[in-house]
Amino acid sequence: MEHILTAIKEEKLNIPKHVAIIMDGNGRWAKKRNMPRKYGHIQGAKTVEQIIEDGYKMGIEYITVYAFSTENWKRSEDEVSALMKLLQNYLIDCIERSTKNNMQVRIIGDKSGLDSKIVAKIEELEKITQSASGLKFTIAINYGGRDEIRRAVKKIAKEVEAKHIEPEEITEDLINDYLDTAGLPDPDLLIRTSGEERLSNYLPWQLAYTEFYFTDVLWPDFTKEDLLTAIRYYNGRERRFGGV
Ligand code: IPE
Ligand code: IPE
Ligand code: MG
Repeated sequence: MEHILTAIKEEKLNIPKHVAIIMDGNGRWAKKRNMPRKYGHIQGAKTVEQIIEDGYKMGIEYITVYAFSTENWKRSEDEVSALMKLLQNYLIDCIERSTKNNMQVRIIGDKSGLDSKIVAKIEELEKITQSASGLKFTIAINYGGRDEIRRAVKKIAKEVEAKHIEPEEITEDLINDYLDTAGLPDPDLLIRTSGEERLSNYLPWQLAYTEFYFTDVLWPDFTKEDLLTAIRYYNGRERRFGGV
């Protein structure tokens, strides 16, 4: 870790405050080893554990990862159940470690589509970490950006119907408040591993002005050195936000 922190200091790197990650390539990583896809997911879960720790040491304040999309239910029953089991164990581990690592954890996505055991763990984890002052860690589970917007529109429509909101009061800020990410700053940097260069329904509203970094590295192989490379790339970009 020392060499990374030295590089950050010497190169005067500006650390993105919020990094969003599409952790992709677990299946291909396992396939290369003639192992079942779920083995890739197990390795991927270890990688995320390491990366959030390293990322926080590097100065990142918010990390938001894509763990399971609303479209991932299309996978085989075997893979979906392995992923759900892994997520449940991950949440339990997070609860056990939460006092030690001081992270504030939040889950975004449609919880109504998840097993009640997982929902109970999510609620427990969010509750016990709510006032932690360390990394703000967000996990997208059963998340789809279009679905998130649909759910927000539905809630706003109900408020309008109940006359709590006038249609004229629907501003971008108000919409932000109805999204799952309410209160989170927009991501500064998006990282997608495995060579795919698409959003796959991840945070389409929030990523409007985010810088994108794509790498061929498969998620289970992603290291703090790769994170440093992404941060260097980010530092080479000129963010304009529509100005000149
Ligand atoms: C990402 O890895 C993890 C999830 C989508 C849960 P994949 O499982 O998509 O791996 P590839 O893309 O098939 O290699
Ligand atoms: C996006 O990856 C979802 C997660 C990483 C959880 P996918 O592997 O599901 O996306 P596509 O199918 O390649 O677009
Ligand atoms: Mg994939």
